[in-house]
Amino acid sequence: MSLAEIKPRNIKFALAGEDKRNWFAGNPVATAIMDGASILFPLGETFFIQSVVHFRDRIADPQLQAEITGFQQQEGIHSREHRRYNKAVEAFGGNIAELEGRLQAEIDELERRNASPEYKLALTCAFEHFTAMLADDLLAHPDFMAGADPEFSRIWHWHAIEEAEHKSVAYDVWNVVGPKGLKGYWMRARAMMKATSVFVGQSRYNARALLRARGYGGFRTTVLGVLYFSLIKPGVLRRSLPAYLAYFKPGFHPWQHDNRHLIEKFKSAYEA
Ligand SMILES: [Fe+2]
Ligand SMILES: [Fe+2]
Repeated sequence: MSLAEIKPRNIKFALAGEDKRNWFAGNPVATAIMDGASILFPLGETFFIQSVVHFRDRIADPQLQAEITGFQQQEGIHSREHRRYNKAVEAFGGNIAELEGRLQAEIDELERRNASPEYKLALTCAFEHFTAMLADDLLAHPDFMAGADPEFSRIWHWHAIEEAEHKSVAYDVWNVVGPKGLKGYWMRARAMMKATSVFVGQSRYNARALLRARGYGGFRTTVLGVLYFSLIKPGVLRRSLPAYLAYFKPGFHPWQHDNRHLIEKFKSAYEA
């Protein structure tokens, strides 16, 4: 059960414009890393919605039913806004459709292998843990986006709040419909390993491709710059490691890490 209210905020962000080039504090590496992750959202979040809604009929609890609706609405709007985001930043270089095609190929591969709806849900739970973890990191470190363009900072904080709010929905559905015992644990752990390689691999690939297309193709930027941002400063992946490992605990639940205070801290900025 979710500890937070799952409230969709239907906002359109103004992200287009030449002044948005290197929107992340004038830093091309940080900008490309965030933009590279954004490329994964429209297709990814559509996949998450489908994977969860597939099991809607098997959920008897009216509260979880309502949470599924909130989840579906939030992710639907995220998907729409990140499509607009991706279109806006494409002006600075990079072929978004081509990069998205690599994620589509992973989704197609699941279909080709006839992956079970349970496994797709396990993948969704794993990706949702990733987004919740990165959201928590963003909200917990107010200096994270220091110097960023205000509207880009606003879309990322908005997305982070809502990822935190709905972080347990896929997982609670999994707890009802997923396989139990060792079989369930193994499927969940295996899905996390797959999700890790797709998320880390593709977001890094996208960041490098965007950097090259934007004229920053040197080794120092595409390899060392990206590693520095991920592991050293701000070191998002390094900082998130304990939260990542917690997912492998047998009795894990997303709300064992209660970060409602972070949601409360930021959400008033989005009240209509
Ligand atoms: Fe989302
Ligand atoms: Fe999500």
